[in-house]
Amino acid sequence: MKPITLLTFAASVALAVSTGQAFAAGDAAAGEKVFAKCKACHQVGETAKNAVAPQLNGLDGRAAGAAEGYNYSEAMKGSGITWNEASFKEFVKNPKGKVAGTKMIFQGLASDKDGDDVWTYLAQFGADGKKK
Ligand code: HEC
Repeated sequence: MKPITLLTFAASVALAVSTGQAFAAGDAAAGEKVFAKCKACHQVGETAKNAVAPQLNGLDGRAAGAAEGYNYSEAMKGSGITWNEASFKEFVKNPKGKVAGTKMIFQGLASDKDGDDVWTYLAQFGADGKKK
């Protein structure tokens, strides 16, 4: 592990402990880089809006197909999924495998670590787009 990675890791452990959040395995800084692959379509943060794809604020605990004003596929609206670490990682690994008929055209993240990291990055944002 490079020293900088170790520092980020230590900082995220401290944050998880101080806010009482469940400890996630991923690395938020690495996840921000993975999110570059999603940014062509998705936004997150205080200024996030629905674009090609729904904004991803407050994703932890959010029902699938619930970003207000976004025109989802019937498949996503009817999926019955609640986004959490497990359902999210399955989806981003193989979007069409998890939600047959989704209109998210993305091959999936081959690396489980990328899935962990991008979840840790996204789960920081509350429904208002501010970091929790
Ligand atoms: C080419 C555009 C595109 C890319 C790239 C993309 N997505 Fe999506 N994503 C979509 C679309 C479109 C939807 C809506 C799917 C539907 O309605 O079936 C979606 C839906 C989702 C949802 C469900 C949101 C909800 O409100 O239920 C999640 C979670 C998600 N994407 C995560 C990601 C992540 C993480 C990445 C990067 C690893 C990514 N997406 C990359 C287009 C994209």
